[in-house]
Amino acid sequence: MLKIIISGCNGHMGRVVESLCANDPEMEVCAGFDVLGTTDREFPVCTSPAQFSGEADVVIDFSSPAALDGLLEFGRARKIPLVLATTGYSPEQVAQVGAAALEVPIFRSANMSLGINVLLELVKKAASVLGDSCDIEIVERHHRRKVDAPSGTALMIADAAANACGHASEYVFERHSVRHPRDKKEIGISAVRGGTIVGEHEIIFAGHDEVIEIKHSAYSREIFAQGAVEAAKFIAGVEKPGLYDMSYLVI
Ligand SMILES: NC(=O)c1ccc[n+]([C@@H]2O[C@H](COP(=O)([O-])OP(=O)(O)OC[C@H]3O[C@@H](n4cnc5c(N)ncnc54)[C@H](O)[C@@H]3O)[C@@H](O)[C@H]2O)c1
Repeated sequence: MLKIIISGCNGHMGRVVESLCANDPEMEVCAGFDVLGTTDREFPVCTSPAQFSGEADVVIDFSSPAALDGLLEFGRARKIPLVLATTGYSPEQVAQVGAAALEVPIFRSANMSLGINVLLELVKKAASVLGDSCDIEIVERHHRRKVDAPSGTALMIADAAANACGHASEYVFERHSVRHPRDKKEIGISAVRGGTIVGEHEIIFAGHDEVIEIKHSAYSREIFAQGAVEAAKFIAGVEKPGLYDMSYLVI
């Protein structure tokens, strides 16, 4: 039985992780972290990781970039592996995660769905073949509450395409202020926000007289929570510090 801490336990994703763990004989939620605190849960909730002194095997974090410092400090000091699913980290924070991963195993992915990670492999293949002949555009759609834009997943997809396309790339996030034809090296990334859309990502390879589109639609948050639970099971069994991602589960 793995003892897990849910960071961001009062949020939408934290509650889905909790309900999956309740039905998983291998998982037991031993505590939650959340700035809001609360007393009406089946496990103790700490408003900061430093308050927790019990035993735990792994942390799953779906909270906010503001929680990162405390989590990294906790993971390092207690040698407890972390699954970081929160998105919207700054480049400095991404570097902090890399530094902490020298001391403790950290699993980080801006998208915990297995399907999206298969899509990333398809994008790499398509970009390596079509990168020179097609223009690459990414469109992502999310619910109205989402704070960061573009999504961390859209950036992962752009990075996968950029690395595979065989030439230098430049990301273009909005075309309103630019008045010139599209340059070959551009990868356009557009964000749509509205309603309760869980998450959609579409990659368009637009060539001369042909268009290829690859699309993933998430219909519930459960796919991300399930991926994070699988990641927690994986990383809890890893002894070597390092940075791990979904490629360890998909490939
Ligand atoms: N990687 C993925 O697959 C994936 C999927 C879905 C959502 N997310 C990301 O997970 C995060 C949470 O999403 P959500 O929809 O559950 O959001 P939410 O707003 O519903 O929940 C966030 C929770 O975190 C808590 N919180 C905020 N700041 C905190 C801090 N400093 N310390 C501890 N707790 C804090 C809030 O009180 C809240 O309960 C977002 O960054 C979102 O983009 C990632």
